Amino acid sequence: MTMCKRTSKSSRYFDVMFCAGFGFGFCLCFMAITYYKLVTDKFQNSLVLLQSQTSSLSVANTAVFSPLSPSPISSGRLLCWVLTSPNTLWTRSKHIVKTWGRRCDTLLFLSSKPDLKFPGTVLALETEEGRENLYNKTINAFKILHDSYLDKADWFLKADDDTYVIVENLRLLLSRFSPNRPVYLGRRFRQHVHQGYMSGGAGYVLSREAVRLYAMAVYNGTCTLSTSPEDLELGTCLQKLGVPAGDSRDHQNRETFHPLWLGSLVSPEDLLPKWFHNYNYYTTKVGPDCCSKTSVSFHYCKPLQMYMLEYFLYRLSPVGGHSIKLHKTRGETTATETNKSNNQLTSFWGFDKGFIWNPL
Ligand SMILES: *[C@@H]1O[C@H](CO)[C@@H](O)[C@H](O)[C@H]1NC(C)=O
Ligand SMILES: *[C@@H]1O[C@H](CO)[C@@H](O)[C@H](O)[C@H]1NC(C)=O
Ligand SMILES: *[C@@H]1O[C@H](CO)[C@@H](O)[C@H](O)[C@H]1NC(C)=O
Repeated sequence: MTMCKRTSKSSRYFDVMFCAGFGFGFCLCFMAITYYKLVTDKFQNSLVLLQSQTSSLSVANTAVFSPLSPSPISSGRLLCWVLTSPNTLWTRSKHIVKTWGRRCDTLLFLSSKPDLKFPGTVLALETEEGRENLYNKTINAFKILHDSYLDKADWFLKADDDTYVIVENLRLLLSRFSPNRPVYLGRRFRQHVHQGYMSGGAGYVLSREAVRLYAMAVYNGTCTLSTSPEDLELGTCLQKLGVPAGDSRDHQNRETFHPLWLGSLVSPEDLLPKWFHNYNYYTTKVGPDCCSKTSVSFHYCKPLQMYMLEYFLYRLSPVGGHSIKLHKTRGETTATETNKSNNQLTSFWGFDKGFIWNPL
């Protein structure tokens, strides 16, 4: 405070005022810091409370467990690519941009024409439309993914423009596998391909290594274009390359990828088409056991149903919530399974403390 010991009379008044102002400002600053500390402490206490209590309908919950916040599950970067067409881009794909697509790290729409007005990234494949050209679309899509996105993602999910994906649950599934090893996951069908192949409508995921192998095989002519169903063709090629078809069921052997609309699956009466029983690699379960609590996808989802699912999954919550125990994982070990411990996961969410999931 040497500056206050000034001798000049004319500046004395000014110095006093300056010192007083400085002191006042200092006090104010101190008070502000103390108040801030109090408030943040209180906020942190309420966080701890949230995690240790079973259920809560409080508004604060929304902010804490927002499904849009970065995923706590270390599954790697997820690229979602939607196979669409100029006809359905604005009627179907648009709603993916507004719903589940936001939760992927990268979201791409692959169509036969570009569209600069679309509120998402549309990549043009320069292929013809129509069912018989589906596999050509897939082949060209994988060439683009390989050439431009291989180092930007660890997992590559393909979905149709009428597939709904619960991205958080997909990340949970993927956390059991390594993207550096070839693997491919989805709803496993057993016809035609010995190791099975993944249904196209339910969506399927390839690890980065599987994408690399597949694109190489397309480039070097090991796998060629065909007019048979695209999911079957892809499965045939991947088997040839030694990319294993993984088991995506949960620890209770319930399926997570669903090629049919939810309504027909959960019905206690068997309303399922006969082909479905014949195609499933694992025994088809009817009724509530049809589907895992950590289901990943539903096919044949109309735009309005996408918003319904968003509401059911992220807004609606029955009092008490649903109990989910993530630390139980499947007992099986595949060649591709990593030793990535789920402990990390369970402690983040507080499941190990008996926390009951309240998905909002
Ligand atoms: C497949 O797609 C490529 C380019 O994307 C195209 O040049 C080719 O003609 C297509 N093949 C068939 C059989 O449609
Ligand atoms: C083509 O690529 C695959 C891997 O993607 C490899 O297994 C195969 O040996 C290659 N074939 C030729 C002829 O280079
Ligand atoms: C997996 O991790 C556990 C502890 O984290 C360790 O004891 C075990 O040996 C590991 N298993 C393999 C196959 O590396």
